[in-house]
Amino acid sequence: MKVMVCGKGGVGKTVLTVLLAEALSEKYKTYIVDSDESNILLPKLLGVPPPKPLVEYVGGKAEEEEFERREPDIAKALARAGQGVRLSLLPDEYISYSAEGIGLVTIGKVREYGEGCACPFNILTRILLKNLVLEESEVVLVDTDAGIEHVGRRVEETVDGVLAVVDPTAESLRSALLLRDIVSKLGKGFWVVANKITPRTWALISREAGRLGLRIDGVVRFDDDVFESTLLGGRLRYKTALDDVKSLAKTLKLL
Ligand SMILES: Nc1ncnc2c1ncn2[C@@H]1O[C@H](COP(=O)(O)OP(=O)(O)OP(=O)(O)O)[C@@H](O)[C@H]1O
Ligand SMILES: [Mg+2]
Repeated sequence: MKVMVCGKGGVGKTVLTVLLAEALSEKYKTYIVDSDESNILLPKLLGVPPPKPLVEYVGGKAEEEEFERREPDIAKALARAGQGVRLSLLPDEYISYSAEGIGLVTIGKVREYGEGCACPFNILTRILLKNLVLEESEVVLVDTDAGIEHVGRRVEETVDGVLAVVDPTAESLRSALLLRDIVSKLGKGFWVVANKITPRTWALISREAGRLGLRIDGVVRFDDDVFESTLLGGRLRYKTALDDVKSLAKTLKLL
């Protein structure tokens, strides 16, 4: 099972990816693919050293046209010893494991002024996910970059489903609607989770989502510990958020 976690900037994609991975790691061998080209603190939230970016494994960042052209070679380079692309077979420096056994792989980060756009990273994410061989007992969660750039790079066609995160903003609801329309045309699973919810905002967001015809499949309450731990930039802490995410995973039939 491969699931992309998507949504507008700042809605809580990274936090929910980490919490979902923690919830699922009780039942599955769970991996996170960090395909956000900007943010760098996911390893800290998970409590692991940052793995070497996969883009280095395939010879470094290149122009998007070149990446598209080299797709068969990149897929071959990622697949070791004819066994297909398996994250567990990547060299140690390209995957970091948390205490719960969650494996983190990172695609690449924009670091240099004028180095060009992030499109090649999305292309590499697509090549990786498309060629990935998964066992029944394995789950891959993809923490995506903000917005819908990845849609333009056809990353969605490589996964089984998309989890759209919304927060109490009209903009995030609109983003989720757009994603739903794209993902349903591809015939993939699509779910919506409302994050950072308080009793007062729940009344509003459920009304607004209803008005737009958007079904909300799960709710994660605003959790002060989550908020504070991302401010401090260390291991993710929580009070209620993990329980909420576990309920969501049950609704999604993942647990
Ligand atoms: N359930 C929650 N309760 C309280 N705060 C939350 C919750 N979920 C996320 N946040 C806060 O929202 C902010 C953004 O979270 P996060 O970085 O996970 O969002 P994102 O969608 O990954 O952002 P980006 O688009 O930049 O990648 C952080 O301050 C985080 O602590
Ligand atoms: Mg993020």
